[in-house]
Amino acid sequence: MSNIKPHGGVLINRVATGAEREALLAEAASLQTIEINNWTVSDLDLIGVGAFSPLVGFLNEADYRSVVERMRLADGTVWSIPVTLAVEEAKAAQLAVGKRAALVGEDGILYGVIDVESIYSVDQKHEALHIFKTDDVEHPGVAKLYGRPSTYVGGAITVLNRPVPEKFNEFYFDPAETRRIFAEKGWRTIVGFQTRNPVHRAHEYIQKCAMEIVDALFLNPLVGETKSDDVPANVRMKSYIALLENYYPQDRAFLGVFPAAMRYAGPREAIFHAMVRKNYGCTHFIVGRDHAGVGDYYGTYEAQDLLRTFTADELGITPLFFEHSFFCKKCGNMASSKTCPHGSEDHLTLSGTKVRALLRDGVCPPPEFSRPEVAKILIEGMSQQPVN
Ligand code: ADX
Repeated sequence: MSNIKPHGGVLINRVATGAEREALLAEAASLQTIEINNWTVSDLDLIGVGAFSPLVGFLNEADYRSVVERMRLADGTVWSIPVTLAVEEAKAAQLAVGKRAALVGEDGILYGVIDVESIYSVDQKHEALHIFKTDDVEHPGVAKLYGRPSTYVGGAITVLNRPVPEKFNEFYFDPAETRRIFAEKGWRTIVGFQTRNPVHRAHEYIQKCAMEIVDALFLNPLVGETKSDDVPANVRMKSYIALLENYYPQDRAFLGVFPAAMRYAGPREAIFHAMVRKNYGCTHFIVGRDHAGVGDYYGTYEAQDLLRTFTADELGITPLFFEHSFFCKKCGNMASSKTCPHGSEDHLTLSGTKVRALLRDGVCPPPEFSRPEVAKILIEGMSQQPVN
């Protein structure tokens, strides 16, 4: 097993098997049912396999209030993102504390059960302002939050059926598996990399800077729900595979997906991302510019600043901070303001909008921005996407 301890000390496993599962499946037929959307199915599953250790269920009221107010569970453990189960008021009225309820997906599949510990209503604006630092409905995380009911049900869960990936099945690993794989490979230090985007040269640069000082890279793209103008996960996966094949040492880089939804909570999500990667067995975690940010809601280095307010012991994983990186024409290489003395006129910078426009026109961005193998896959992917 990897040397690093999971967050909270123990890797949670709440996936029922064998007789326990059979008994719960049988019992579920007579339980109240809560319908859960894909996002919640993904949260449920990630709790079940321990990716969200030490969570054993959806947050109860005490933990929720503590997470929102002070970025900690009620027992003081660092936790920055509320993982909650929202239900309509009419449904909440049918539930009772101390009772069990069945969690059924929109596809009719019984994904698990919850032992209801608390039923509580929340002030969504308060949650938005604390988690996203804004209540602007243009913010995709705020919009999502406001689209949910404001009654939450907390309590321990048990997973009975796992969601089955439509594609790229071979890149789904539970934390127990990644920990075993890292140990088998003999890696003692592993840097985790979160991304919701294709990997461009700046991403590659900071990954490889990190790889110079650790044993291996865990490229761990988020493939759960993202906003509609992010590049779809299926296209991104093809691009990651091509990139690793062509530019990374096979014995020092490992690709596995993070099947969670993107919250776009910037600094708070950076903490959450780091804790989760610790659970997957990473010892280090990369936080660059505007990590998990959207628009200009967060300062460029705000995520890094927030991480610095916690002690090394509290985090238990070492964040590696990187400045905004770019290709410098004068240096003739990738750099950041820490390593390049030249002005911005010598730096190649392309906005996301500009890159999307180039790709949509079938034009590869310059190789200093994106590897041609990656650009080609993105162009193909774009041509299959509706233009919005
Ligand atoms: S994120 O929402 O998943 O954080 P993205 O996929 O763009 O978005 O970023 C992945 C990681 O790379 C984050 O840690 C981010 O801060 C970092 N990053 C992205 N672009 C740059 C860049 N040009 N320079 C430095 N770090 C970057």
